[in-house]
Amino acid sequence: MGLLRSLVMMLLRLWFLWLPVHGAQRPNSSHELDALLQDYAYKALAPPKTGLPYDGAVPSELNGIKIAALRLRSGSLRRKGVDMYKEFVIPPGVIEQPYVERLVLVYQNLGNWSRRYYPLSGYTYLAPVLGLLAYDASNLTATNLPVLDIKASEKPITMKFSDVKSAPDGSIAKCVWFDLQGNRNFSNVASGNECFTIQQGHFSIVVEYTAPSPAPSGEAPAPSGQAPNVPGPSEHGKNNSKVWIIVGSVLGGILLLVLLSFLVLWVHKLKERKKMQQMERAADVGEALQMTLVGEMKAPIAMVTRTQPTIESEYVP
Ligand SMILES: *[C@@H]1O[C@H](CO)[C@@H](O)[C@H](O)[C@H]1NC(C)=O
Ligand SMILES: *[C@@H]1O[C@H](CO)[C@@H](O)[C@H](O)[C@H]1NC(C)=O
Ligand SMILES: *[C@@H]1O[C@H](CO)[C@@H](O)[C@H](O)[C@H]1NC(C)=O
Ligand SMILES: *[C@@H]1O[C@H](CO)[C@@H](O)[C@H](O)[C@H]1NC(C)=O
Repeated sequence: MGLLRSLVMMLLRLWFLWLPVHGAQRPNSSHELDALLQDYAYKALAPPKTGLPYDGAVPSELNGIKIAALRLRSGSLRRKGVDMYKEFVIPPGVIEQPYVERLVLVYQNLGNWSRRYYPLSGYTYLAPVLGLLAYDASNLTATNLPVLDIKASEKPITMKFSDVKSAPDGSIAKCVWFDLQGNRNFSNVASGNECFTIQQGHFSIVVEYTAPSPAPSGEAPAPSGQAPNVPGPSEHGKNNSKVWIIVGSVLGGILLLVLLSFLVLWVHKLKERKKMQQMERAADVGEALQMTLVGEMKAPIAMVTRTQPTIESEYVP
């Protein structure tokens, strides 16, 4: 019975462990996203070769985001920089604060999630938001690492965005930089697709909404208020499928419980039958053995059949 109970407990525990994995929540802020992507980017560094970028995989609820990790000696970063790391050209002279011996540069390309994690009312993104964040490389299984402060002390770090959408006529594209505190700052785009930074953070190219009033093309001006946060239809479908997963898990769990209780009942019955057989056998063997057995088992059936004759013999004389 004890074994069975622990088996049931184990199955229940497994089931509850399994549940949150499938109902996984995606990060609800850009900070949480950074922490999660650090963890997943570090996983890509399984056999880490210094100086080589590794592409990482993101959890399925963040499909559309690309990440990479590049581990470097900080001395090499300072002396030589990195010729080309995805869209980033890192010149010599980049130093981190506080000092670490080796660091990992985590690259993020937020793709179609850019607007969701970096909503920018009044602007349209012409390119995905890119992130470049530095972390200590001394423990590659560590999570929730603090971001190292990196500064380009000689020349700025250059980003060369590919596939920049063209800005509408008459509007001017701008580079946007989000620092880790959530402040943003705008600067000019160079050569049509280049932005510069002297710090880590998140970057993109945007254009201000211009009211298309002189051209009566029939299109309503896009609302600049809360548009970026309204979940689209695909979002809805995702929520739906999540609900189904949860409902399915609960139903499956109940079914499992019912089956398990049947199993428990059945085993119980089987044991009782065995006990009965044992007692019947004991009854045949003799008085002394039977008495001890009955006392242990607390089962009255054998008692009745066996004691009846003695009661009679007491009354008869
Ligand atoms: C984000 O989610 C966490 C739990 O995962 C919660 O504690 C926190 O309050 C949420 N933050 C916001 C801004 O909703
Ligand atoms: C981005 O695209 C992926 C498929 O490539 C999709 O699964 C995901 O829901 C999209 N994200 C948003 C915010 O629409
Ligand atoms: C690395 O970090 C993990 C998770 O925080 C921790 O369990 C482990 O002990 C750390 N390893 C070292 C060598 O510090
Ligand atoms: C934006 O950047 C400029 C030049 O780098 C700086 O002078 C200004 O203070 C920054 N603004 C904010 C809000 O950080």
